[in-house]
Amino acid sequence: MANEKVAVITGASRGIGASLVSAYREAGFNIVANSRSIGISTNPSIVNIPGDIGQAETARRIMSEGVEKFGRLDTLVNNAGIFISKPFTQYTQADYDSMLSTNIAGFFYLTQRAVEVMERQGWGHIINITTTAAEQPIGGSPALLASLTKGGLNAATKALAIEYGPRGIP
Ligand SMILES: NC(=O)c1ccc[n+]([C@@H]2O[C@H](COP(=O)([O-])OP(=O)(O)OC[C@H]3O[C@@H](n4cnc5c(N)ncnc54)[C@H](OP(=O)(O)O)[C@@H]3O)[C@@H](O)[C@H]2O)c1
Repeated sequence: MANEKVAVITGASRGIGASLVSAYREAGFNIVANSRSIGISTNPSIVNIPGDIGQAETARRIMSEGVEKFGRLDTLVNNAGIFISKPFTQYTQADYDSMLSTNIAGFFYLTQRAVEVMERQGWGHIINITTTAAEQPIGGSPALLASLTKGGLNAATKALAIEYGPRGIP
């Protein structure tokens, strides 16, 4: 088993995800980073895997081309997410599909694969980036699809902690 810890970070091309990559590197982690537009990394401690996180195939490549290279998985940060604010009745099918795909399917496929690895190891932890708006909607900023998807993630986070915490995956 490789000595250096490994973190998988989704939505890593900009914003919070890019800052997480820097912070985890400073903490000594090797990184497997994903986003749709992320380029090839020249840093041997960072493997970038481009792809839509809502697709099961992207989760499979993150594990086979990234995590397997480093030989372990300590932390998964499900950070990739999108936010569309508009009145409830104005959401389109495309809004619904993209938010469910990125915010829910993007969590689901990759977390399944990560838990399989962490169960074999007997350790690991998973961080889901959600939003306070899921618990406390903000007047004047309607965002039902954020509540629906990130609220679902909040519930899933608690459920996974109960299911896998006793097996070393909090
Ligand atoms: N910023 C805030 O104030 C705030 C508040 C509450 C919650 N959050 C949550 O925090 C997380 C990060 O937010 P942020 O502000 O840093 O967002 P951001 O700047 O918009 O960055 C989003 C990241 O996700 C990636 N991404 C989007 N769709 C993707 C997909 N289908 N597959 C793979 N990657 C995808 C983007 O890269 P590509 O375009 O290259 O795919 C980008 O790297 C999100 O989950 C967001 O909901 C943020």
